[in-house]
Amino acid sequence: MSTGNVELLMRVSSILCLIGASYGFVPLDYYLLDCGSSTNSSVGDRVFVGDDFNSNTLSTPRNISAKTTLRPISSSYDSVLYQTARILDETSSYTFPIKKRGRHWIRLYFFPFVYQNYNLRMAKFSVSAQNITFLKDFQVLNDSQVREYSLNVTSSNLVLTFTPSSKSFAFINALEFLSLPDELTPESVRTIDPQGSHQSLSNKALETVVRVNMGNETVPPQNDTLWRLWVSDDRYLIHNNLAKFLTNTKAVNSTRAKAMENIAPLTVYGTATKLNSDDDPNLNANVTWRFDVDPGFEYLVRFHFCDIVSSPIHALFFNVYINSMLVSRNLDLGHLTSNIIGAPYFMDVITRKSDSSELNVSVGPSDVGNPWPDAILNGLEILKISNSKGSLDVLDSDLRKSSKMKVGVIVGLALGMFTAVILAMGLFLLCRRRRRYTHVSHSKVEENFATTELESKYSNNGTAIFSSSKIGYRFPFVAIQEATDNFSESLVIGAGGFGKVYKGILRDETKVAVKRGFSRSKQGFAEFRTEIEMLSLFRHRHLVSLIGYCDEQNEMIILYEYMENGTIKNHLYGSNLPSLSWRQRLEICIGSARGLHYLHTGSAKAIIHRDVKSANILLDENLMAKVADFGLSKCGPEIDKTHVSTAVKGSFGYLDPEYLTRQQLTEKSDVYSFGVVMLEVLCGRPVIDPSLPREEVNLVEWVLNSQKRGQLVEIVDSRIASQIKPESLRKFGEIAEKCLAEHGVHRPTMGDVLWNLECALRLQEIGRRSDPNGELSSQINPVNNLETSVSTAQFSMGSVCDLDGVSMSKVFAQMVREDMR
Ligand SMILES: *[C@@H]1O[C@H](CO)[C@@H](O)[C@H](O)[C@H]1NC(C)=O
Ligand SMILES: *[C@@H]1O[C@H](CO)[C@@H](O)[C@H](O)[C@H]1NC(C)=O
Ligand SMILES: *[C@@H]1O[C@H](CO)[C@@H](O)[C@H](O)[C@H]1NC(C)=O
Repeated sequence: MSTGNVELLMRVSSILCLIGASYGFVPLDYYLLDCGSSTNSSVGDRVFVGDDFNSNTLSTPRNISAKTTLRPISSSYDSVLYQTARILDETSSYTFPIKKRGRHWIRLYFFPFVYQNYNLRMAKFSVSAQNITFLKDFQVLNDSQVREYSLNVTSSNLVLTFTPSSKSFAFINALEFLSLPDELTPESVRTIDPQGSHQSLSNKALETVVRVNMGNETVPPQNDTLWRLWVSDDRYLIHNNLAKFLTNTKAVNSTRAKAMENIAPLTVYGTATKLNSDDDPNLNANVTWRFDVDPGFEYLVRFHFCDIVSSPIHALFFNVYINSMLVSRNLDLGHLTSNIIGAPYFMDVITRKSDSSELNVSVGPSDVGNPWPDAILNGLEILKISNSKGSLDVLDSDLRKSSKMKVGVIVGLALGMFTAVILAMGLFLLCRRRRRYTHVSHSKVEENFATTELESKYSNNGTAIFSSSKIGYRFPFVAIQEATDNFSESLVIGAGGFGKVYKGILRDETKVAVKRGFSRSKQGFAEFRTEIEMLSLFRHRHLVSLIGYCDEQNEMIILYEYMENGTIKNHLYGSNLPSLSWRQRLEICIGSARGLHYLHTGSAKAIIHRDVKSANILLDENLMAKVADFGLSKCGPEIDKTHVSTAVKGSFGYLDPEYLTRQQLTEKSDVYSFGVVMLEVLCGRPVIDPSLPREEVNLVEWVLNSQKRGQLVEIVDSRIASQIKPESLRKFGEIAEKCLAEHGVHRPTMGDVLWNLECALRLQEIGRRSDPNGELSSQINPVNNLETSVSTAQFSMGSVCDLDGVSMSKVFAQMVREDMR
């Protein structure tokens, strides 16, 4: 070979290297299929091939290509994949030839829609490959979803099989199958219970339960070398006032991060959630995230850490827990990364099987003399490990097997006794038969009871309206009767147009609010369904969460988390409850604004609540606000155009005038209603009070008129009038007035409202740090709070409000310091 050739070869290979570097990982096995499609679809820089072209990949006796123009709510990035689906009427399989044995990902995309006489929500099917069951009797009831499985492929072909359940059919919108970098999946991982032993994963399949980026920032698939979605962590945080979100990508060691980008992208390491100990160096608490998991499985938990906070004067070490089990004591990142500053680090552990449907992850200060309590987490992945039967589906969970076995043993024993009794005692004892039989069925009922949660997840007898395990739990009617003392009047905590609300206590001592609808009208049933659907789709700290429902015997019952302090309305007027302080009122407004902001922006299509009022804002034991009652919620605004004739719905006094006159429903209708709630909060009186002089009857008119005359201060609830700082009141009045603008376009978004309410709170707190009773000093630091909001990048600097009295240079100095850490 001449030198010229060698040079050329070197050049070519360096170009190849460059390509490799700029495109990250290139999988050897790489199949992207857009199922049911005859064209290719581009998602980012990837092309999904229409599976019509791949007739040799799919083998199926009977199938249909289905199309829709509907788009999923939760995804816009890959929404093109959901516009088609392949419906499989009989057992069918996709076969992929393998170039590289080892770990592969299978990603399945589902989006249920209606096509001709197929309603994909009714599809029920199982999916398996290589003796592993990924899904069993699976139904897709909520919006689009992507399931991700990791499988160690051991043969030269991978066959992915779809099996319809009896009398049903299967479907799939898109699928991805790719080989993974070897470093991604560990061979063997340490267990935390028992501590210190190890477990091999090589013959296990894994399902991604959740993949989270801490620091309240979502990392989209486009920014990840393996097209992973990292969701932001705020929705999983339990007490978010203990947590602080940080972004400091510059602190990450980029060489190290580059070498680890297949493990997690740099942004994951450059953002973190930490213990908010800045204001209180003695704060001793954990930051905890809570995740829903299926009981009866072991989980692989991967923690991602990167020290983007510590400084030479304060070393970072802390404890890590899962479900109160210690995972690491005095985790010292400096030590673990050989003191390479800003080097990413990850740690894997396996949790034991448990019957809990929650998994809590906490980080907290070390318990050995740490002068500066601190703790951080940058990212987290939870993967479900296939069980001894080679299944990943909760219908095949090991726990379920054992509880069923117990029932079997009891029934078996009893039947055995029964037979023996017959044989030994003959006819005389026939009369006892009935009694014993009753006894047997009784113990069966008891047993079912003990596993209420599990059973309710897969019971599909009767008239289940939802049976997916992901949509919340279907409770047996008897369990609810028991929890509410057979709907005892003494447990009624509320009543309304829908029916009554009872306080209930479940067998496991969980307190619940039980809403029981009146007998099933068509209208009532639609609202019942909407509410369950909404609550299961949208989970957020500031939205009341769904615990379960019951639709047996024509009942319409919804179980919510119990809110100790009832509605905010009750705290404002018409009861003997102690008055809320101005600060508490502001925090409640902020919390509920956050919940609504999430509804409006948390998914691609805004959700409009349609019934925002003080009776629908509930308070938990810490007076944290949560928005409730989604019976009227709608996906909007487009959808309502097709429903122009829909009767106007909502609550009198809170209705957006524009919606009333033009029946045009947008998020801004919620903003209007929220403005009304703000006035109730400010004035502590009902929206309409006919007992008052005429000009005061209508709260909105009264306040807006007083505002115009500059007399707002005179109409403030007398119980708090002396506490309110004039600047805070002015700000609050301004926001409320804007919310109540005649035309939706002139009203702010919930995001703006939220931001301004936070300003109003800061304006109230300025100067209170030296408050002698110390109540506020630990949490409230106006400058730091502002900095936090800015660093979470939820709001652009352009929208910073006019903070009278706060020196902006102080704020910026603080931000710069933050950056230099
Ligand atoms: C994703 O990548 C784009 C383009 O490189 C960048 O502008 C954006 O900030 C990134 N987002 C995150 C969350 O990393
Ligand atoms: C953090 O959580 C663990 C496990 O639940 C507990 O043992 C520890 O006391 C907690 N630490 C603090 C400071 O609350
Ligand atoms: C639908 O369910 C899947 C799996 O349970 C979940 O990942 C997804 O986030 C849900 N969709 C929405 C919009 O919440």
